[in-house]
Amino acid sequence: MSYQGKFRVWRGDVDGGDFEDFTVEVNEGEVVLDIIHRLQATQAPDLAVRWNCKAGKCGSCSAEINGRPRLLCMTRMSTFTEDETITVTPLRAFPVMRDLVTDVSYNYTKAREVPAFTPPEGVGLGEYRMHQVDVERSQEFRKCIECFLCQDTCHVVRDHEDNKESFAGPRFLMRIAELEMHPLDAGDRTTAAQEEHGLGYCNITKCCTDVCPEGIKITDNALIPMKERVAGQKYDPLVWLGNKLFRR
Ligand code: SF4
Ligand code: F3S
Ligand code: FES
Repeated sequence: MSYQGKFRVWRGDVDGGDFEDFTVEVNEGEVVLDIIHRLQATQAPDLAVRWNCKAGKCGSCSAEINGRPRLLCMTRMSTFTEDETITVTPLRAFPVMRDLVTDVSYNYTKAREVPAFTPPEGVGLGEYRMHQVDVERSQEFRKCIECFLCQDTCHVVRDHEDNKESFAGPRFLMRIAELEMHPLDAGDRTTAAQEEHGLGYCNITKCCTDVCPEGIKITDNALIPMKERVAGQKYDPLVWLGNKLFRR
């Protein structure tokens, strides 16, 4: 079964743009990215969109569908009614390059600001040992496909460009939490999270968790535990020291 679907797609570049309306064929089983590809093939050959895997694994096709951050390749057309106009826009928190493609370099800048895993002195390669429970804890965070939908939706930067400098965003605060929970990481992640990466800006609205296509519980399992560790450190340095040395 196919039908003619109504789409409203943002077209433009760094100098501005506007919506363009299309009526396009929709077939059973298709996702929004299929429709964007059909538009390129039939009506708008220069429509810019970023994608790679079409399987929800590369994190490239992030955009906003009816104002909600989504992966284009994982959003089924069957979630909409046939008479609905579907609006597709670029990620709002990042500068537009062209059409649905945004410049996500903010995220790479923030990634570089997080110091890498730092093993304790005297422990050489091949000598790292950790409990299975610690391995499993970080597995959830490792599912991240770096789609940056969480970064796009977080209100701290979504409408406040000036916060970008001091706020790493949920994806990278989660990375810091992963390192903080790693039994062999010797870095002081709690102080850095608060003072350099803007953990205090997060008021646990959980919007990041809501949009994560991997279903990672960013807020409950990374951000809130990180805040608890910062609070422990802040109010009682001895508790913090004890936690750091004997917690695991
Ligand atoms: Fe995307 Fe989830 Fe990773 Fe954020 S945490 S970048 S929403 S996969
Ligand atoms: Fe932003 Fe997620 Fe915190 S949406 S405010 S980082 S809970
Ligand atoms: Fe790879 Fe959508 S194309 S996640």
